[in-house]
Amino acid sequence: MESVKVKSRAKINLTLDVLYRREDGFHELEMVMQSLKLYDSIAVQKTAQAGVFLQTDVPFLPTDERNLAYRAARKMQEAFALPGGVQICLTKRIPVAAGLAGGSGNAAAVLAAMNELYELNLSLQELMKLGLTLGSDVPYCLFGKTALAKGRGEILEELPDCPHFYVVLAKPDFGVSTGAVFRALQAEKIGRHPDTAGMLRAIEAKDRAGICARLENVLEPVTFQMQPQVQKIKGFLAAQGAEGVLMSGSGPTIFALFTQKEAAEEACQKTKEAFAMRTVLVTETVDKGEQGYGLSL
Ligand code: C5P
Repeated sequence: MESVKVKSRAKINLTLDVLYRREDGFHELEMVMQSLKLYDSIAVQKTAQAGVFLQTDVPFLPTDERNLAYRAARKMQEAFALPGGVQICLTKRIPVAAGLAGGSGNAAAVLAAMNELYELNLSLQELMKLGLTLGSDVPYCLFGKTALAKGRGEILEELPDCPHFYVVLAKPDFGVSTGAVFRALQAEKIGRHPDTAGMLRAIEAKDRAGICARLENVLEPVTFQMQPQVQKIKGFLAAQGAEGVLMSGSGPTIFALFTQKEAAEEACQKTKEAFAMRTVLVTETVDKGEQGYGLSL
């Protein structure tokens, strides 16, 4: 096998809770994660010349060590003394620095693709361990599906599929640094925590209203403080008849859930016009059958 193509899917957080700040500087998290149909395409090909050769269709994205996809390939080459090199073609659709795990997903996709390309037969656990050295969301991105994530984000439990929703994603024309948001967070002062247990029950019961009522992210107030426009976008989408609205990850993307496609498309159009943003789009949740890299826990 000389070339492998994979999908690198976006994710949203249906809940994001921070329990405390750990000794190692990271935060102990509890999050309900959901994969989306929106994906970046990644093709990985062996090259005779040693190295990692990354190409992307987004001109401002770095194609060296600063790119997680590049680092993932290097990691695999070093860990398994792989001969020759790899060329990676990355076609981006997921907004960058958005809270949708675009970069982490790309790293996960490269790990999974190289596992296949070099017939390494690594288990999901082994790939997740390598992935965690690249970023906290990489293990979930290898796993996909609807999942409960704990620890830094690497302790994963598979959940029943979330009921299907159309998802409007609205990303302002600026990015947000996850590190900066966590640094500004005062974990011991968080007043209100998500009802994670209630969210798990609502997902189990396929209770759409129950899921929408429990969307909560403790990083929202921090990002809203840094970028007040994000809160305005959330309010606007809520007023467009969204069944639930929340910021994903550390932001700045706001997602809005709809049962009906037409309602989602209308809200998407109105948000685009109201905020003159480049990146507002409609996607969907995926279920187990449509995702993952064929790896199980
Ligand atoms: O792991 P990753 O590089 O994606 O995390 C980016 C930053 O977010 C970290 O440097 C850290 O400041 C913060 N973070 C955290 N606790 C986590 C995950 C990330 O404090 N569980």
